Amino acid sequence: MNIKSTAINNRRYLGNKYKLLPFITKVVNENCQNINTFADLFAGTGAVSSAFCDKIIITNDILYSNYICNLAWFSPQKFDSEKVKDIIVKYNDIQSVEDNYMTEKFADTFFSREDCSKIGIIREDIELKYKSETINERERALLITSLLYAMDKIANTCGHYDAYRKGVVFDKHIELYYPNASNDNNTENCCFNEDINIVVKNVSADIVYLDPPYNSRQYCDAYHVLENVARWEKPEVFGVARKMDRTALKSDYCTQKATNAFSNLIADIKAKYILLSYNNMGNKGNDRSNAKLSDEDIFRILGNKGSVNVFEESYKAFTTGKSDRQDNAERLFLCKCN
Ligand SMILES: C[S@@+](CC[C@H](N)C(=O)[O-])C[C@H]1O[C@@H](n2cnc3c(N)ncnc32)[C@H](O)[C@@H]1O
Repeated sequence: MNIKSTAINNRRYLGNKYKLLPFITKVVNENCQNINTFADLFAGTGAVSSAFCDKIIITNDILYSNYICNLAWFSPQKFDSEKVKDIIVKYNDIQSVEDNYMTEKFADTFFSREDCSKIGIIREDIELKYKSETINERERALLITSLLYAMDKIANTCGHYDAYRKGVVFDKHIELYYPNASNDNNTENCCFNEDINIVVKNVSADIVYLDPPYNSRQYCDAYHVLENVARWEKPEVFGVARKMDRTALKSDYCTQKATNAFSNLIADIKAKYILLSYNNMGNKGNDRSNAKLSDEDIFRILGNKGSVNVFEESYKAFTTGKSDRQDNAERLFLCKCN
């Protein structure tokens, strides 16, 4: 069977922590005892959870597209890998020029008309297979994940969907890979798709890992096309970048409400340890890059919950080239809860 496979990190995602996993696991291994449950509540791609697969994993993200990927990688539900591979091979063989929601809304923007047609057919078929019980929920998640990763690989963008380059030749064409997920995940793993301040009330874990957005850039804006295809509600889209209505997906952590939201969140956490990723850009970069939580507020709020230590590692800033500062550090705040 001619099929390539893909891993959790084969995806572009703002602020993803895959490269920081050695640093994060070192801090956890050297400073946290008796860890059986790891809750990754701003999970994004799920890269951080993937380093804690020997624990019970709880993931959450406000974006459905991330929830679906987290379900594909971490759900305890069993799947038939041969069936999933078979379907992917058939999807890759599709040749199509039919018009559908994707061609109507996105032809020759982020993807060529032909690839849009194929994406539309595949996404529709996944839903049909699920509704007719040909595939289960995990298999559906694996197929959608495969499609989202494939879209990301060829999108005519620099990694996010705020804009596309006009008049390009679309030289890459969509090819789905098999997501190499485990069929032996911990049976107590679970994935949520909620605002973190709601989900936190129902979660308790040994470590709660927090990796909030750092600035005013909303993830639902940057990844609207992937979110649209994952949800498949075929909404109206607007403007040059063809964005759907994202009102319900906006995060308080990208606004002036961040400190208040963070304070309520920390108060509601039930855990032995809270591990927070937050970089030290502060007010040094451009306006949009300015951090929404100040160091003073982070120390004060975490300090109310327990004793706090900070660990640092240098890294390259992810603000797309506007700032060439070299002295950024990724920081981990570890709070040992009282
Ligand atoms: C910095 S990214 C996390 C990256 C992740 N650690 C990784 O390695 O891929 C922040 C994530 O938080 C999610 N998010 C933002 N606000 C949220 C909220 N209020 N509740 C839940 N998730 C939220 C975003 O969709 C985004 O995926």
